[in-house]
Amino acid sequence: MAVALVVAAGRGERLGSERPKALVSLAGRPMVDWSVEALRSVAAVKEIVVALPAQALAAAPAGTVAVAGGEARSQSVLAALRRAGQGDPVIVHDAARPLAPAELFERALEELARSGADAVIAAAPVSDTVKEVGEDGRTVQRTLDRSRLWAVQTPQVFRRATLERALSEVSEEVLARATDDAWLVEYIGGTVQVLDAGPRNIKVTTPTDLRLAELILADRHGSIG
Ligand code: CTP
Ligand code: MG
Repeated sequence: MAVALVVAAGRGERLGSERPKALVSLAGRPMVDWSVEALRSVAAVKEIVVALPAQALAAAPAGTVAVAGGEARSQSVLAALRRAGQGDPVIVHDAARPLAPAELFERALEELARSGADAVIAAAPVSDTVKEVGEDGRTVQRTLDRSRLWAVQTPQVFRRATLERALSEVSEEVLARATDDAWLVEYIGGTVQVLDAGPRNIKVTTPTDLRLAELILADRHGSIG
């Protein structure tokens, strides 16, 4: 049986709201509730641990285990993993992606079991051309081969032993720099596979994203995206 870690301990500085981003209202409910509701309907998930800012633990959705997050995202993941019971595999998901449907978590778990990879991560093929600039921050050095580029998202699902090793073997400094747990698995030599998440699993970073998320929710079975 799987355990799900929902990281919701960020401040939401780019959203610019007074409360932590995960508790900002999205279509009438705290943002974090949407992910928790989707995870609740995934049969394989037996426990949901939510990492929240220390002063906001009381806001954990009913039936979840609350834990105080850390300074950096990966430290929140580690805190949640330490608090989790024995579940394996481990699903890691950002509260900032409230539109991830139950079906996406299920597909990721199925792909992990089927593939033999150490991790399977939701991702989207990159649609813009991506260029790398030099140290001056603007002179183009090269253009990357777009056909092989994926923008990575959450959920990310892991064999538990691999994630534990990835989070414990790297230094505090590497942990603080990681914006993505799969990178830590790559760092220790594990295999990571992408899974196409479709166009709707957006990340809420700015007020425009929040508005877009509300539109997508209003159109849940309709034509946007
Ligand atoms: N997160 C976390 N602990 C941290 C930092 C981030 O649990 N110390 C979580 C956020 O709550 C979010 C996810 O990681 O669900 C992705 O982070 P991001 O989108 O950057 O959210 P914030 O850090 O809250 O936003 P900002 O960077 O604008 O402050
Ligand atoms: Mg952040």
